[in-house]
Amino acid sequence: MKAPMPGFSRNAEGQACLADAPLTELLAAARTPTPAYLYDVGAISNTMESLTAALGDERHVAAYSVKANGAGSIIRAVASAGAGADVVSGAELEVARACGVQADRIVMSGVGKTDEELDLAISSRILSVQVESVEEIDRVAARARALGTSVRIGLRINPSVLADTHAHIATGHDKAKFGIALDDVGRAWELADAGAPHVEAIGVSTHVGSMLMTPEPYLQSARAVCTVARARRAGGKRLDYVSFGGGYGIDQGERPASPPWEFVREALQLLAQEGLEDLRLVVEPGRSIVGPHGVLVARVVQTKISGGRRWAMVDAGMNDLLRPALYQARHRIEPLDHPPGGREWRVVGPVCETADDFGDHALGDSPPSAVVIRDAGAYGFAMASQYNGRPLPSEVFAAEGRVRSVSRSPGRTGWVHSRLRA
Ligand code: LLP
Repeated sequence: MKAPMPGFSRNAEGQACLADAPLTELLAAARTPTPAYLYDVGAISNTMESLTAALGDERHVAAYSVKANGAGSIIRAVASAGAGADVVSGAELEVARACGVQADRIVMSGVGKTDEELDLAISSRILSVQVESVEEIDRVAARARALGTSVRIGLRINPSVLADTHAHIATGHDKAKFGIALDDVGRAWELADAGAPHVEAIGVSTHVGSMLMTPEPYLQSARAVCTVARARRAGGKRLDYVSFGGGYGIDQGERPASPPWEFVREALQLLAQEGLEDLRLVVEPGRSIVGPHGVLVARVVQTKISGGRRWAMVDAGMNDLLRPALYQARHRIEPLDHPPGGREWRVVGPVCETADDFGDHALGDSPPSAVVIRDAGAYGFAMASQYNGRPLPSEVFAAEGRVRSVSRSPGRTGWVHSRLRA
């Protein structure tokens, strides 16, 4: 398998580079102030191509999880590389469709889909609405009936597997709000069958959690899906697909992670072992496609040395990148113009919260004027807010050494006008 080119690297002069160009040059070409996210769209495409190649057969779907990063430039790139989409709202569905993702390669999950969202999914004729409770089945059936049409559904099951990841991103255990409990699956099939001809139950899906470093927990939950799928078939019922969800982790400098195509290879092997190789396999990767290929660049706006501590205050905060505050996630932070090393500085943002803290990083004797926060392509901009009157950051999309497009921050005036209207 061809390894995708790295999104982030250092050139011979030690400058931080993305998409084979120094980040300082990309920022200057984009005429963008900091904080700014920069993405290597070429590396993102390559990663998706490697994944679709690992799936082999066109029947299978690599449904890119739009929640990780919903930028049009990125969705268009992965759609061209053969991706479908995993969406969790009407808005994500609309963006995926407008970016060229085929409707019959889109799955929709979510524990609280509104009637409007269901209507959009049903009328768009997506591959499957993945229902997350027995109760949801009646509502989906009623919407299809009201629209005078039919809807394809899958049962998202809760596999009762506790993945070894942060509690906030483990989804497949008994106490999680996600999915249909294994004990309720029989009742769910009955209701789905009773919904015919407006409901066609065609799949079984799951998602055990995010940031899985090895395929084991993934396969454990996938086995639960296969058991449900085989039992359904044994009853003489139609079944078209299984989805094993996403969750492939990335190496953020602390622990190596199995590459996404390894998860896929093992998933295909499992299907064969279970005698289900004729089914369509859906996988739902988000982070592993975009995470390593995006960075957040910030300027050091203030330093403070006090009580034996050294602080570097940067112009990106928890409103721009929430992951450290919410999940105690560690993102590598390095000087923009030279490799990391030497004295450590506590890097913090300007937001008035103690949690606005990115941890200790080796920035050197005197801190650099700007830093790069690595592995920020997934769940970075997607989770950004305007807290503290801080406008959303700019985004720069680059490939093969140059800027392809820029999405500019609405800036201070954008925030001021929106609040004055409120
Ligand atoms: N499919 C379903 C049903 C999901 O709930 C998720 C993620 C995915 C696929 C994609 O998972 P991925 O391949 O990206 O791990 N904000 C958190 C992650 C939340 C993930 C939610 N569900 C973070 O920043 O770590």
